Formats: sequence, structure tokens, C-alpha cells
Amino acid sequence: MSPRDYDLEPFWMPFTANRQFKAAPRILVSAKDMHYTSEDGRKILDSTAGLWCVNAGHCREPIVRAIRTQAETLDFAPTFQMGHPGAFRLAQTIAHLAPGDLDHVFFANSGSEAVDSALKIALAYHRVRGEASRTRLIGRERAYHGVGFGGISVGGMTPNRKAFGTLLPGVDHLPHTHNLEKMANSRGQPDWGAHLADELERIVALHDASNIAAVIVEPVQGSTGVVVPPKGYLQRLRAICDKHGILLIFDEVITGFGRLGKAFAAEYFDVMPDMITFAKGVTSATVPMGGVIVRKPVYDAFMSGPDGIELFHGYTYSGHPLAAAAGEATLALYHEERLFANAASLAPYFEDAVHSLVGLPNVVDVRNIGLMAGIELAPRTGKPGARGYEALVRCFEAGLLTRVTGDTLACSPPLILTTSHIDQIFGTIASVIKEIA
Ligand SMILES: Cc1ncc(COP(=O)(O)O)c(C=O)c1O
Repeated sequence: MSPRDYDLEPFWMPFTANRQFKAAPRILVSAKDMHYTSEDGRKILDSTAGLWCVNAGHCREPIVRAIRTQAETLDFAPTFQMGHPGAFRLAQTIAHLAPGDLDHVFFANSGSEAVDSALKIALAYHRVRGEASRTRLIGRERAYHGVGFGGISVGGMTPNRKAFGTLLPGVDHLPHTHNLEKMANSRGQPDWGAHLADELERIVALHDASNIAAVIVEPVQGSTGVVVPPKGYLQRLRAICDKHGILLIFDEVITGFGRLGKAFAAEYFDVMPDMITFAKGVTSATVPMGGVIVRKPVYDAFMSGPDGIELFHGYTYSGHPLAAAAGEATLALYHEERLFANAASLAPYFEDAVHSLVGLPNVVDVRNIGLMAGIELAPRTGKPGARGYEALVRCFEAGLLTRVTGDTLACSPPLILTTSHIDQIFGTIASVIKEIA
């Protein structure tokens, strides 16, 4: 290992215990396909696609080439009153991938911005149709929708909210659907829990539908530790939203672009939301990009409203040329290598492998869907998160990158993986779980 030519101290790392990390840093210096290389020259198998995002695998040549060429051709084009071909082409490809009449794309630069954009579109949509009283937003407990004020307001992860004041007003939360007694070790969607969607009726009865703009949910909750929707739950949410004229937003920042073996979870679950937020996998994380896909009636409502700027919202980097080029090359690669189909065909093997951990010491739940898995460990008395963190560190020492939320390990590998990667992922996790007390 060569000596570091940089200081660890000045960088304030996000969502990281900075003092703990800097005392024993884990530094990644390069990556290729399924692996990272750490600063001490070890190959680390990536079981999390970075942060649920490197769906095509690392440093893939066609994507790298497209970014390089774009940087040499058109580095930036203004987004207001100007356009460039890549943004239009990418929007068209995404619209083709999305189900039904989800056919207009608004670009942002991250999942957080995508969520804020979708919430604002929902409010403005009702207003442009003459229903300006529909301002309330409904999220869900344990939800993660990024870190903007919109996202943390509808989000439901307490530590992400508690330090930041009153957040957006007029937000309610559905109950989360995770229940260890009723659904531990379910394979795929749990049988129990569809009735929890009926809580939406209670919220509507309290506020009246005429005041409610939208419901936003992750079809599968990722960041809280892979919480899979009960059978029939999303369908019920859709039906209740339809009954009351409420928009349904699926936050597919994690589930979009093949994670469940389809382009979007909406297709996998056969439930049509009014909007989909996306990010991460759209560029396989090579260049930051996010966005919102809206159904035709939503777009049309704006386009038949007053003349002029239809939506006073946008970012300097909406549809940035490098991101658009990366997105086009990424979606082409998904298509050419049939990566969504690969994810779908490996899902049963992945499921069997993760469920082989059931019964190991301290494993209280194993859950999975598509190429997402959560392994929940019992917390140590008085030290929530300590066992999970130790597992993460030991996996890394053993050559495996996993992710941990509290005491739940999460796996969401690149879609290019093979069965031998799956064996290595869950073999390593099994050994680590057996080692730690
Ligand atoms: C469902 C969901 N929404 C939004 C976000 C926020 O995305 P970003 O970190 O790109 O802002 C994430 C990030 O993990 C996410 O999982």
C-alpha cells in the first residue's frame, strides 16, 4: 500500500460515523465489473452494486466511452430555453421502458431531487386542474425518499428527520408493513399485511380527499433494510387512490432499471402509479442523474393549462449532457446484455442462497425479492446496530462489500452477476455471522 497523498480529515462524509471511519478507513481505489479494489490492493466483491446503483457492473467500457466522447463534444448546454439531443433521446428510451402511458420524463440529478420534483408536480397538477386544495402528502413509516426537505417529510426513518425541525406541513404517514411475527423468513412477498393499505382510507376520512394530493411509497422499501410489500398491498393502495382522485407515486430510485428483473417494479407488481421517480441505475451510477416519469394525463394537464412556463421548477443540470450520454449507453447495455432477464433468471437461486442463512446464530429474519435481500440480525442488548456494523466490517475484511442499516445486512448486487458470485456472497456472510457473537 502506497502512503496516502491526501488527508482524511477535511472531508465531512455523509451518513457515516466520521470519527469511527477515519480511525480505521476503508478506501476503494478502483473498480471493474463485479469488484472493487481496496487501497491495500485486495479485490472486494460488490454485493450492493455500490449503493444499489451500479446495475451494469463497474467501469463498463461502452458507458465509459460514451461519457468520454460526450465530454469532448458538448460538455454542457443550458437547460432553460435550450435543449440538446441526448436529453430528448434518453427521455424517449426511458418512456419506452416504462409501462403504460408513463411517457414523459423530467430530469433531476439525484433521487432526492427526483422525489422533490415529483411532490411538486403533484401539487401543481391538482392546482392546474382547479383542485388547489389538494395539498396534503402521504408517505410511510420507515420510508426513505432521500434527504431534501420533501423527501424527509414524507420519509419515515426517524434519525433522518429528528434534527431538522418541522419539515413540510400537511404530511401523514401510512404504517410500515414489516412485522417479524407475521412474516419472518418469507420468500418474496409476505402473505400477511395487505390490509395495512386500508389505513389510507382512515387518513382520507380524517382530512377529506379534497385536501390530499398524493401518496408516495417505495414499492420495495430499500434503505430501511429491504421490506417487501405484502401480496395485494400495492394493488389496494392503487384502488384507494383511484377512488379518491389521489396521485400514487412509486419511488423507484432503487427498484428501477432491473433490480426486480423488470425495467420497473410497477411492471413487476402490475400496478400502475401516476409517477415514477428514478435515479441510480439509469446511468449505472457513472454520472449522477435522477428524474420523474409521469403519466400522459398528468403531463397533458400542464400542457393544456395557461400558456407560458408550465412548471416553475428545474435544475441547472437537468438532463446534463454527460449524464444523458451515460444513461443512453447504460440502457443500451442493459438491452444488449439482457441484464434485466439475467436478474430475473437468477432471482430463484439468489433466494435459495439467502434463505440458507435462516437458522444461523442471531439471524431473526431473511427476506428477498428479485435481486434484493435483507438479513436481519438480533440487536445486541443496549447496542442497536453494533452487531450489524461488526458484520459489515468483517465481510469487508473477508473481501465482500455489503451494506448495513441498523442490524440488517442488505444485498443488491450488479445485474451481471453469476451463480458463483451468489455462492461467494452468501458463503462469506454465513461465515461472518457464525464468527460474531
Ligand atoms: C427510494 C429512494 N429514494 C430516494 C433516494 C435518494 O437518492 P439520492 O441519494 O440520489 O438523493 C434513495 C437513495 O438511496 C432511495 O433509496
